Amino acid sequence: MPNYLPEDFIEEVRVANEITDVLSEYLTLKPKGKNYFGLCPFHNEKTPSFSVDPEKQLYHCFGCGAGGNVFTFIMDQERLDFIDSVKFLAQRKGIPLPGSIESPQDEETRKHKEQLYRLNREAALYYHENLLSHHGRHALEYLKSRGIDQRIIKTFGIGYAPRSWDSTKNYLLSKGFDKQLLTETGLILEKNQREYDRFRDRIMFPIIDHRDRVVGFGGRVLDDSAPKYLNSPESPIFNKGSVLFGLNLARKRRPIESFIIVEGYLDVITLHRFGIYNGVASLGTALTPDQARLMRRYAQNIYTAYDGDTAGQKATLRGLDILKSVGCNVRVIVFPKGMDPDDILVNHGIEYFNKLMNNAMTITDFKLDRLQAQYDLDNQEEKVEFTTKAVRILTDVDNLLERDIYIQRLNNLTGFRPELLYRYVEQVENRGGKPGLKKNKIGNNRHTTPIRKARIHIAANIKAEMHLIRLMASDEEMAKRIINRLGDLRFDDPIHNKVADIIKELIARDVGLNPAQVLNYVQDDKLRGKITEIFEIEMEYDNVDRYIDDCIGELRRSQLEKRRNYLMEQISRMDEMQEHNSIEYKNLVEELSAINRMTKLDPFGKEEVM
Ligand code: UTP
Ligand code: MN
Repeated sequence: MPNYLPEDFIEEVRVANEITDVLSEYLTLKPKGKNYFGLCPFHNEKTPSFSVDPEKQLYHCFGCGAGGNVFTFIMDQERLDFIDSVKFLAQRKGIPLPGSIESPQDEETRKHKEQLYRLNREAALYYHENLLSHHGRHALEYLKSRGIDQRIIKTFGIGYAPRSWDSTKNYLLSKGFDKQLLTETGLILEKNQREYDRFRDRIMFPIIDHRDRVVGFGGRVLDDSAPKYLNSPESPIFNKGSVLFGLNLARKRRPIESFIIVEGYLDVITLHRFGIYNGVASLGTALTPDQARLMRRYAQNIYTAYDGDTAGQKATLRGLDILKSVGCNVRVIVFPKGMDPDDILVNHGIEYFNKLMNNAMTITDFKLDRLQAQYDLDNQEEKVEFTTKAVRILTDVDNLLERDIYIQRLNNLTGFRPELLYRYVEQVENRGGKPGLKKNKIGNNRHTTPIRKARIHIAANIKAEMHLIRLMASDEEMAKRIINRLGDLRFDDPIHNKVADIIKELIARDVGLNPAQVLNYVQDDKLRGKITEIFEIEMEYDNVDRYIDDCIGELRRSQLEKRRNYLMEQISRMDEMQEHNSIEYKNLVEELSAINRMTKLDPFGKEEVM
């Protein structure tokens, strides 16, 4: 998998990034025994079954079977590929990347983007300083009038774009940035072969992504003129659908219990002002799956806090379904019509806001409420139509106990018998009559469906293989010893052979060997989980050499037994067909008796092992 990063560099980065250290930035870990435990970020759970093993530098979830090393964790949580996760962690520790490891195009793209980020940062600083200078007096006044003080201005890096056609352009050009870059980020516009500042006489809100990079701007007018906001256009570093305003600040306050999604920049800012730090805003557009997954990385509980007018709109409702589909628990805070969180906090204070938050509704309740408001349930026809639509909403409720609650509610409302309602829900469900989103299209199923592993009986030979693999991965000397003694013997389970091959390869390349490193070479999530589980097996033995011999003996015995069964089957088949005289038959019989002799004499044979 590592296609062009040198092996020893990858290892250096891995060792420098201690696993509990890194993972603690993403979840809360508590020590227990020699491991650490926390709530699994890969599936929904209430009690911790996610363990981190500092000794082996592995994580493993007993609930869903996820497992891996520090790279695979970052790959998943930061949505990076392997190489980028190594780079990410190298950066975290300030380890310089070795030269010539990127393809020329990649390097060019990266450098280009870095320039765009630098440009935006410079522009943000410029706007910010402008706001605090005499040019920004009236802007500062405006902000004050909305309750925004110096501290908040600093926190959000708020600025002011001067009332001028070219101040920003000239300033940035004087800083040595190319005109082409300025056009690309949309800081300047081109018209009739002339360039001028896009943002003029506006309050500037830098849009900062979750990795603290300024990706764009939202600029607000100081009066009631239109458009109220101008936003940066899409660019190589700015994709509206994958950024959340405020997430950079929210994510720094761990643990994050929940997020509150609001509509506007000002809402996030006002929440902050009132000591609520977990507000984020999608930038004036409907929530996208990307944004939903981004939030899900940090927190599972999501509140939506939309204006009373927009809350019920189709796009908003779709956003709720998207959140649910990526595994979030969603609650809808219902505001009075025409009011947003900013209005509520400014005019009615924090207690009222908290009260609304405590009364937040489930998606289903919210949808049913909205639906009910459109019908007169005293009218027979309308009642039927209402119930038909309500039933469709209920097919989205997976938890049967929850479903029961809603059915009772419907029964109270309509008078239709619960048994009938149940039947109806199931009927619609089976017909696939779910309107809107199909669950598995969006997001990662792993987050929505926790897989409980059944305790299955493991055959003795498979167990022996697992233990051998586990020993091999732990130490190079041990691995060599086992490989020697195995000789030509292969494992029965292809997964075990794959791990053995990786280990042999690592030894051949002389790059060191440890369990966490082996996992660099296993791309498949499920497979990696299984292998991690093997690496985490607790083993007991008095003498490791004897134990290895016992395991190999078990392997050999089981393989011979399989062969013997096969031979006996063939022989009896040929017996039936009266083919005793063929050469093939004779060979089979000979091999069978050889095996029979061998297992009797084999010191590790079944009889002697016990
Ligand atoms: P709002 O009109 O609710 O803005 O639009 P706001 O942030 O609450 O600002 P105030 O309180 O009116 O001053 C919500 C969001 O929609 C986007 C912006 O992201 C804004 O924060 N929007 C709105 C635009 O992009 N352009 C517009 O013209 C208006
Ligand atoms: Mn507002």
